[in-house]
Amino acid sequence: MNSNEVRKIFINFFKQLDHKIIPSSSLIPADPTVLFTSAGMQQFIPYLSGETIPPYPRACSYQKCFRTSDIDKVGDEFHHTFFEMLGNWSFGDYFKEKAIKWSLDLLVGKYGLKKDKIWVTVFKGNNDIKKDTESIEIWMRNGIPRERILEFGMEDNFWGPVSTTGPCGPCSEIYYDRGEKFRTKKCDLSNCGPGCHCGRFVEIWNLVFMEYKKNVDETFSKLPAKNVDTGAGLERLTAVLESKESDYETDLFLPLIKKISELSGKSYENNKKPFRIIADHIRASCFLIADGIFPSKEDRGYILRRLLRRVIRFGKTIDMPKNFLIPLSQIVINQYSFLYPELKHKENDILTIVQNEEEKFEKTLLLGLKKFNKIAKETINKNKKNIDPEYVFHLYDTYGFPFELTKELAKERGLNVDEKSFREKFKKHQEISRAGVEKKFGGHNIYAIKDEKAKIKATKLHTATHLLQAALRQILGNHIQQAGSDINPERLRFDFTHPKKLTKEEIEKVENLVNQKIKEDLPIKVEEMSYENAIKSGALAFFKERYPKIVKVYTIGNFSKEICAGPHVKRTGEIGKFKILKEKSAGAGIRRIKATIIE
Ligand code: ALA
Repeated sequence: MNSNEVRKIFINFFKQLDHKIIPSSSLIPADPTVLFTSAGMQQFIPYLSGETIPPYPRACSYQKCFRTSDIDKVGDEFHHTFFEMLGNWSFGDYFKEKAIKWSLDLLVGKYGLKKDKIWVTVFKGNNDIKKDTESIEIWMRNGIPRERILEFGMEDNFWGPVSTTGPCGPCSEIYYDRGEKFRTKKCDLSNCGPGCHCGRFVEIWNLVFMEYKKNVDETFSKLPAKNVDTGAGLERLTAVLESKESDYETDLFLPLIKKISELSGKSYENNKKPFRIIADHIRASCFLIADGIFPSKEDRGYILRRLLRRVIRFGKTIDMPKNFLIPLSQIVINQYSFLYPELKHKENDILTIVQNEEEKFEKTLLLGLKKFNKIAKETINKNKKNIDPEYVFHLYDTYGFPFELTKELAKERGLNVDEKSFREKFKKHQEISRAGVEKKFGGHNIYAIKDEKAKIKATKLHTATHLLQAALRQILGNHIQQAGSDINPERLRFDFTHPKKLTKEEIEKVENLVNQKIKEDLPIKVEEMSYENAIKSGALAFFKERYPKIVKVYTIGNFSKEICAGPHVKRTGEIGKFKILKEKSAGAGIRRIKATIIE
């Protein structure tokens, strides 16, 4: 059964059970404390938390997901950065009884898995939340014997919240016993079962019974309703249904694997790790770029750059030819566009970006190699065996050298590198960049400006920022997305996604269009509505906002419409003359405009 059938059967199964089929949301979530969409439930958080009345009681989706936590695990049989998650939801409608019964109906009845090979796990309880005896009973009533129902704690059988607070709950995981021949790694046989890493038991579906909310003080309270949130990785499910040793041998990856083999002249069997890393990361990179992410030094862009550099680096280990990212990206675009048309729409961006990154990284690698040689010489001259961890991190941070590369180069010269110190430095760096993300997303509060004159000027600049974004989109195209904004009473600063420097003509056009809209003295209208309706009405949303239940939508004539907390002027005529001061780069793929108004 190929992956398209697996996906289709899942969706049709729940459709027939009155679930509304909801398209995948972007990999960039609305919640500013979360870097990526990593689970199907994220777009439903307002419904699960009870903040918004759900417009439908049941939903089903296949969702694009990205998990940074698994980057270093990619290369084994089942881990990915990007993957598709199949899921079904109940928002205060059905609960454990139906969720469990239906999961078995689908797995056994539709997918043809053997019931006697199904194992499940349930939450064993702790001081805060009691043991899930209800699920044990339901599984047993549905024919899973007690000895194939295992109990685990918070680590394994409690899911969520995605951020520090939010909906969460005990979960029940479904495992499939694929038999002896799939045991690819040694394990403690007396203890082998669900959770063992030998490859025989594979987790295929997670049913979360979301009835709790984790609070800021780490306590749990009950949600207003009992919900169901489930997630099954399409890649894994397909591998199990096709009896493949790994996800990378399913039709989801085979075209990529074949192409890598063709380009490198190497076999997958003898080079599984680099093949898998390249296939996973190039697929993920294409999807990230299609959702508007550009390689950069921070945040999401940093992750994308890291993926692309790993692709290039592992490409070298199997002698991939130059410019190999392009044909691989084309495969991803062609294979997935029928479900995710954004890939086709962003084809040019994808191909340009992967090409640019490859060229850039080649240059950096050469420089890094020089630097490494100098460091190695110094270390040897000092009669030392270990390369200073500070240097290892510097090579990583400045020259993009993955730890493994430095280690290999060091080994060639009889030197060592200390992995532990490197990891510590790495972790610290991650914490700093995460803090940077939060700081950046903090925003600027015009309401807090005390000086009345300064406040009025900042308000005018704020409305001018909305006009600027609309003008950029009209003149350069709808790929323009806000990547940051900062306003002080002197000037506005607006960062946006765009791959090239603006020409003088483009800058003039943008400036003129904003001034024209000021001259038209358009009224600014504000309305309150649900976030969903706001998006439906075409309002632009910037992911930095943690959107409340009801949002404000500011409309300027029929020129601009944005979700925004305000404040704004009443009519554009109040703004004065708009002047662009500067246009420059603010990271790869991000441009920055500074502008002011002359009152
Ligand atoms: N939200 C659950 C998960 O991601 C289903 O595993």
